[in-house]
Amino acid sequence: MKIAIDGPAGAGKSTVAKTLSQLMSYIYIDTGAMYRSLTWKALQTGTNLNDEKALYELAENTNIYFQKDDSPQQKVFCDSFDVSEEIRSPRVSSFVSKLASYPSIRELMVKRQREMARNHSVVMDGRDIGECVLPDANYKLFLTASIEERARRRLKEMNSQGYEEQLESIKNEIAKRDEDDARRDMGALKVLPDSIVIDTSNMTIEQVVERILSVIRED
Ligand code: CDP
Repeated sequence: MKIAIDGPAGAGKSTVAKTLSQLMSYIYIDTGAMYRSLTWKALQTGTNLNDEKALYELAENTNIYFQKDDSPQQKVFCDSFDVSEEIRSPRVSSFVSKLASYPSIRELMVKRQREMARNHSVVMDGRDIGECVLPDANYKLFLTASIEERARRRLKEMNSQGYEEQLESIKNEIAKRDEDDARRDMGALKVLPDSIVIDTSNMTIEQVVERILSVIRED
């Protein structure tokens, strides 16, 4: 069983995907964390973010993996560093779409993501999962919400992690990232003909999960 969840920033994808994967005992693969980890490493090593070739070489030599612990969260490792928190920083968020726009980087990431999903039941979230990574997914969900609601959710998340962000700057950051993610040539964020679209603006996480489970049950 493969469940693909795509959608813009802050639509609730990762929380929903995590909950679903736990309920169903499937593996959860957060593909955004992979692009974020590579961005984190590029910033750490001073790699030129305009140099696709250098970034590709960096990606080839970077091991990104997930590790589950007792908490509902899973940890993200880049080489041997636990980067779970640092990859959510505003700095990484502001550069990640640029790095994710390079075709060679996307090809490599998609290849690794497919390998992770091979022989497993998975819930995978990102931008191009239904179209590029798991085109044969059993279910393709597209989660969205109004930009105001998405910015409010992200602000709450950032505040709880100790970042003093302003609602307006978060709104601008995710609006810009959505635009960049939707405009790129390869792996662009889009609703597919076979996507099930769920507007989560006025829904709790539990309601979204219940809606998805009812779609699966009715099938
Ligand atoms: O959590 P949030 O929705 O803010 O973003 P994310 O899922 O962590 O993804 C961060 C960024 O990585 C996105 O804005 C995309 O630029 C890129 N990404 C991508 O290009 N393809 C994916 N499958 C997942 C993420």
